[in-house]
Amino acid sequence: MIYGQREHDGHELVLRDLEPADIDALVAYWVDADPTYLDFLGVDRRKLGTADDIRRRFASLVRTGAPDQERVAFVSTLDGVVTSYTNFHFVGPDENYMHAHIIRAGARGKGLASSSFANLMRIVFEQFPQVDKLLFVTQPHNEGINRMLTKVGLTFERRWYDEPDGLPEPGWFNVFTFTRQMVEAFLAPTREAVTAG
Ligand SMILES: CC(C)(COP(=O)(O)OP(=O)(O)OC[C@H]1O[C@@H](n2cnc3c(N)ncnc32)[C@H](O)[C@@H]1OP(=O)(O)O)[C@@H](O)C(=O)NCCC(=O)NCCS
Repeated sequence: MIYGQREHDGHELVLRDLEPADIDALVAYWVDADPTYLDFLGVDRRKLGTADDIRRRFASLVRTGAPDQERVAFVSTLDGVVTSYTNFHFVGPDENYMHAHIIRAGARGKGLASSSFANLMRIVFEQFPQVDKLLFVTQPHNEGINRMLTKVGLTFERRWYDEPDGLPEPGWFNVFTFTRQMVEAFLAPTREAVTAG
């Protein structure tokens, strides 16, 4: 399903479900990653696994339409090229995790994530009625994601996780929370409305 389409940075941006044909690009993002980049992301190599493990994980994120699917992913394309993915892990109404990666380094820092954020939240809460609260659990030293989420108006608390969701090793994280009640405020045009959320 296509969820949205607009111009971004002179390119056509499309937000849609992950499709099997996208998976090679996403596997390459992880398999070709520089070790220093994986360290920066705090990735536990055993959790990351082999290229086949990564491929199987992405294949399981293709949306089936089943209401009880626990993990799904969306991708964004720029002029038809897969540029980022966002994956969700649904655990319970108040415990749902979201992770985001712009897989092409040249597309980072150009407002893609911050300008898409409010609309993405609207779509997620529309599409997944079982979700009341989303958690963004980030590495405290990852200035990009922390700055992006702060810029759009979220705040965080610091928490230790023995078993963080996704690929990271145990550690301290910034936990940003976004609730269903915040959607309307985030879609409102004024800063006052955003901070009121
Ligand atoms: C983190 C990420 C999703 C942010 O998306 P993005 O589209 O690059 O972010 P935006 O361009 O919307 O930037 C929003 C703000 O963050 C700042 N920012 C973005 N990347 C930054 C970086 N690496 N260092 C410092 N600030 C950064 C921007 O300057 C902007 O702030 P400003 O308007 O005050 O200048 C993206 O850069 C990414 O995928 N990075 C690699 C993977 C990753 O770290 N994922 C998160 C794992 S939890």
